[in-house]
Amino acid sequence: MNKTWWKEAVVYQIYPKSFQDTNHDGIGDLRGIIQHLDYIHDLGADVIWLNPIYASPQVDNGYDISDYQSINPAFGTMEDFKELLAEAHNRGMRVILDMVLNHTSDQHKWFQESRKSKENPYRDYYVWRPAKADGSEPNNWGNYFYEGRGSAWEWEEATQEYYLHNYSKHMPDLNWDCRELREDIYSMLNWWCDLGIDGFRLDAINRLQKPQGLPDSPRPCAPPVNPYGYIVDREMCANQPGIHELLKELNAKVFSRHDIMTVGETGNLTSVSAMPYIHEDSHEINMVFHFEIAKNARLVSVPEYKDIQKRWAEVIRKGGWGTQYLTNHDSPRQISRFGNDTEFRVESGKMLAMLTHTQPGTVFVYQGEEIGMVNVYFTDIMDYDERYTVGKYNTMMEQGVTPEEALDKLRMMSRDNVRTPMQWDQSVYAGFSLVKPWMKVNPNHTYINVEKALEDPASIWYTYKALIALRKEHPVMVYGDYQPVMEEYQNVVAYTREYAGEKWLMVFNVQPFMQTVEFPAGLNVERRRLLMGNYASIDEAARLKPYEGRIYCISE
Ligand code: GLC
Ligand code: CA
Repeated sequence: MNKTWWKEAVVYQIYPKSFQDTNHDGIGDLRGIIQHLDYIHDLGADVIWLNPIYASPQVDNGYDISDYQSINPAFGTMEDFKELLAEAHNRGMRVILDMVLNHTSDQHKWFQESRKSKENPYRDYYVWRPAKADGSEPNNWGNYFYEGRGSAWEWEEATQEYYLHNYSKHMPDLNWDCRELREDIYSMLNWWCDLGIDGFRLDAINRLQKPQGLPDSPRPCAPPVNPYGYIVDREMCANQPGIHELLKELNAKVFSRHDIMTVGETGNLTSVSAMPYIHEDSHEINMVFHFEIAKNARLVSVPEYKDIQKRWAEVIRKGGWGTQYLTNHDSPRQISRFGNDTEFRVESGKMLAMLTHTQPGTVFVYQGEEIGMVNVYFTDIMDYDERYTVGKYNTMMEQGVTPEEALDKLRMMSRDNVRTPMQWDQSVYAGFSLVKPWMKVNPNHTYINVEKALEDPASIWYTYKALIALRKEHPVMVYGDYQPVMEEYQNVVAYTREYAGEKWLMVFNVQPFMQTVEFPAGLNVERRRLLMGNYASIDEAARLKPYEGRIYCISE
């Protein structure tokens, strides 16, 4: 297996809007990130991923870009960004940008031109279609944000055509069949690389290619999601024929020309369909975020979790690469989802970290995860901001669902759970800002915050620091071959990793109850050495406490 820096990396994801406000407007900014570079460096992460920082009307918190080559003034200036990059590089850290290539804002100059006339040179940069004979939309697709009446098409009076928007109507989809568009995108990406950035997280990257002829979705829409008959079918634009040619061209014209890492956000992708994107001989992208665990609408069972990890380990063994994460800016907080955010918050928080860091793939830590931040569970829809939650809420209201029921359905999955301000200390706005932040602070910041975490040697924070330090010292954590063991235990996740004579055994009890286990014979377990555990006292009789996790070295 080839060794590269991005396989060994631990990436720290920053949601700039919610990280640190320095100019007292209640919105996080780039100077706030600069201020905390030492904090991230001290934790040990070596790459920072910034959610979109470009000029944007903020319809979808920056995923609606109006100018790819300028910085959102609320976040700062290009000079601030250059300073952030230089300061990160000075500390031996890298910075990757979130790049949105599936759509732009409707305020982007390309779209402003495109909508002017059918003859405009930018017309073809977006997906325009005439109405059907009866005036209705070109097909039955529904937008993913449940906006308006739900269609993925918006009618334009001026030119008497519809344009496609899989997300918000303020985020028209780009037309990747258009060569001029592709060339403009490549120069923009190369411009960022020449500025010195170290890679891209590629938003919705497997959706760039739309299906030939834009046919109706054949899959019936499950009520109650769209009462108007439009079908929210994310399969329609995922992994379409032609997508690999597009990515190979992106790679040839941009990615391969710089020493950068690329991680694709790829919904509707399995360990099988992922291979052509990430195989080292494909020359497309380095790795993908799959959604089989973190963003699955359903909570996966423990056997499913083990199966998913096993399949992705196989992808790596066969020449691909992977990612390990349980939270990002689109999912609930990991402790609330996969652990226990009350009685066992600290234990389960440490256990989930140990699980993530010891399985194959590049590790991604989402801001606040390292101090065990949990979901916010707002009780008033007015406190929610993100379009997906608000759109679904409005749809349910129209269907006569009560506000309480609607909120009950949305609360656990809302993307706002991870978008509340970073909790630095116990002051009124959690040290994020001196003024009222753009989004409410989680009231639990009085006891869950960075200041407290750093004071307490037994806090979750020090488990993260120790795990990252272990990764830097022991290549087995990065390159080790992965073998599941003890599969007979329903609620235990256990596996070995082995590399260059070093062999480790990991055992996790992923439930709020005790579990007795027997270590497998033949693994040299008599000579095991405990490298890390999440409880102070270890019961060597192999009785695992609730959410207990252990990392052993079992080689000589
Ligand atoms: C991705 C982003 C999400 C955004 C969407 C549209 O899924 O992660 O935050 O809303 O793309 O750009
Ligand atoms: Ca600010």
